[in-house]
Amino acid sequence: MSSSSSEYISKIIKDFDVDSDLLKKLTNLYIKSMKGGLESSVSTHDYMPMIPTFITNLPTGLEQDSVLACDLGGTSFRCLYLSLKGNSKYEDVFKKWDIPSDYLNEEGANLPENALFDYLAKKILPFVKNLHQKENFKQYKLGFTFSYPVEQEKLDKGTLIRWTKGFQIESVVGKDIIFLLQQSLDKYLKRDYAEDNFEIKVVALSNDTTGTLLSGSYTSKYGVQDVVDPIMSIICGTGFNVAYIEDMKNIKKFQPEIEAKLKSQGATEMVINTETGSFDNNLEVLPHTKYDDIIDKESTNPGYHLFEKRISGMFLGEILRLVLVDLVEHNILTKPATEKLYTKFALKTEVLSHIEIDDSKELKETQLYLNQALDLKTTPAQRLQIQSITRAISRRSAYFVSVPISAIIISTGRLDENSAKYKYHQELEISCDGSVIQYYPGYKSMVRHGLAIGELGPEGERRIHISIAWDGSGLGAGLAAASATI
Ligand code: BGC
Repeated sequence: MSSSSSEYISKIIKDFDVDSDLLKKLTNLYIKSMKGGLESSVSTHDYMPMIPTFITNLPTGLEQDSVLACDLGGTSFRCLYLSLKGNSKYEDVFKKWDIPSDYLNEEGANLPENALFDYLAKKILPFVKNLHQKENFKQYKLGFTFSYPVEQEKLDKGTLIRWTKGFQIESVVGKDIIFLLQQSLDKYLKRDYAEDNFEIKVVALSNDTTGTLLSGSYTSKYGVQDVVDPIMSIICGTGFNVAYIEDMKNIKKFQPEIEAKLKSQGATEMVINTETGSFDNNLEVLPHTKYDDIIDKESTNPGYHLFEKRISGMFLGEILRLVLVDLVEHNILTKPATEKLYTKFALKTEVLSHIEIDDSKELKETQLYLNQALDLKTTPAQRLQIQSITRAISRRSAYFVSVPISAIIISTGRLDENSAKYKYHQELEISCDGSVIQYYPGYKSMVRHGLAIGELGPEGERRIHISIAWDGSGLGAGLAAASATI
């Protein structure tokens, strides 16, 4: 490889670099953005949405209940029936469907507001009818995990701010998601299930990240001698987001009557869905490579979720694909014979996870994967460079994940001896879910490294447990429903 090609590649790698100074600046901006979002009742481009979820207690593991849970992800839908056993354990039965492409992306953009919810109701009702033959309840409580930014007014009312992944159905934006689901359920219950004698009440709307915090708290088990508090959850899969538990007194955007009601119920804390994907949408501190700019411009939500576009599994493969296109355009790599390399999202993040740890002779495995996905032929020297680029992209993603962790721990005073939230010997549990944090090789370790070189430092980093929560979206929605009083 010529020296000018090597220089060009070194520059690309440098553009993805994140150092300690940048992590600290981002952490301080994040703390500012949290405060702004907790104060501002209108969603602005300047702060994260910081959505109150109306969940005021984390589960203890002692809960006992039987509930329905539904989970709408970017491409699939699941319906579960959960029996919470009260000993941090649960049993479930579930069914899963892939959402037909008619509802997704541009194909579904012009559908009427009830179309998707009618589809969901037609999946939920036969599932419940089948259950009903055994359980025979008059009314079933349902918790709905909806993994998109929703402005919540109550546990069972929330309007969609915007779609982020998978869907683009315009008519649903600004509408109450629970109302739409309940309306479709009631319509088909009346029409097709009148004789079955059961009702379904949608009692809770939960984001997947909120659900992950609930499920982590329900299932987490430490001895009484361990001082471990569940405080935060992270989803890092197709999308990226963070939820945590905040003092009510810091959530300044409540309407006075809502605040008074919550106080009268004895609420002192509430889970906040931060929608961290939208951190620093103004690019005040967040760096941007030319590849990030292309991804944003060509996305369904340009100007929004810029942090997510540098972190989550939906985008890591796409970032590397755009780098490879750039290298072909600069004659550093040979142009493939087919168009695959030029197809958007043709490179899945899973491929990067193989390249990341490829130690085969001459990186033959990398050759196999690049050839299969993009018809790209490379020399061993080129593959080594591609591996370095891959590692720079994933490292940037993981280091960025350390930013909200540090910022939330600092701003909530968890490790500050003068704060009411501090406990002697305290360790902090972060419940995680999502394919990237679960399966990308070395990812959790890179997040920890980000914590150590960032604002928290090595002493703070050693207090953190990063654990994988069990089915945050399913169990979490069930726990949210169990917390509802009907
Ligand atoms: C959504 C969040 C969600 C996250 C993880 C993001 O795109 O805005 O609401 O929690 O993905 O699924």
